[in-house]
Amino acid sequence: MIFCPEEKFVRNECISCGTCAEVCPSHAVKMHDGYPAFNSGLCIGCGHCGIFCPANAFKLEPLPVNAATPQQYMSLLEARRTIRIYSDKVPSEDEIDTLISVLSQSPTGVNKQGITVRVIRGSQAVGSLLKPVQKMLKILHFTGLLHLIGKITGMSDYIERLRGGEDMIFRGAPVVLFFHVPRGNPTGYADGVIAATAVMYHAVSMGMGTLWNGVAEKIYPYTGAWHTHATKGTRITAVLCIGYPELEPKWKAPSRIYTGTYHTS
Ligand SMILES: Cc1cc2nc3c(=O)[nH]c(=O)nc-3n(C[C@H](O)[C@H](O)[C@H](O)COP(=O)(O)O)c2cc1C
Repeated sequence: MIFCPEEKFVRNECISCGTCAEVCPSHAVKMHDGYPAFNSGLCIGCGHCGIFCPANAFKLEPLPVNAATPQQYMSLLEARRTIRIYSDKVPSEDEIDTLISVLSQSPTGVNKQGITVRVIRGSQAVGSLLKPVQKMLKILHFTGLLHLIGKITGMSDYIERLRGGEDMIFRGAPVVLFFHVPRGNPTGYADGVIAATAVMYHAVSMGMGTLWNGVAEKIYPYTGAWHTHATKGTRITAVLCIGYPELEPKWKAPSRIYTGTYHTS
């Protein structure tokens, strides 16, 4: 349990307002004789009971008040661009630790289930990810299936270049992150995508670039050699290539299409 309200709660500090019971997402707090009673079986350890307590009866640290302005947030979004050409500087393990530390604040549906990030670092390690893919392509080519797949998907050219040894998947990225969440969690996939998104924007703030790798994510379930014991029982939710960009984006990207529809009374 990452936060146990029962252990943190200081009865003397409680003003019996009932806020903790009102804000609990899993109905694990009930007021009893003017004080909260906690059901540890229902508690997800999210800390809302304490976060909103007007008397700080759960003894939490004060929240910093200098949240980013809307302009700062938009600037961060605008500065993000998909990177396909990386500099030779390989992010260090410390830098990657800092990069993924934002996961401590990434929301999940059931707060205590956790997220696992598998870090593949260095050109040799990333290069070795390609070997099982090329082996698979060789077999498919031998059986004639590859030709058919290329025709059906219209990706013959891409597949042939990959088969010929070009790194069409990771594009020479110095670091690849695989995001995993436990299986059987109804919000698992969303949790993993949110986590990767948080890391992607943190990378921008650290001067790094990313490539959201849909190809690697899609082929992951069929690439047994990529699986490890550490991620047993998990499901893949995102793959991010990370590195320092060789080319900095110089101009703002064109706007994306989106629709906001409103229903007001
Ligand atoms: C879910 C998702 C999967 C993606 N998969 C790949 C991929 O496998 N290979 C690739 O080169 N780019 C991939 N991209 C990057 C897009 O091609 C990229 O976002 C697009 O070119 C727009 O550029 P921007 O990200 O700089 O705005 C992916 C993007 C998303 C959101």
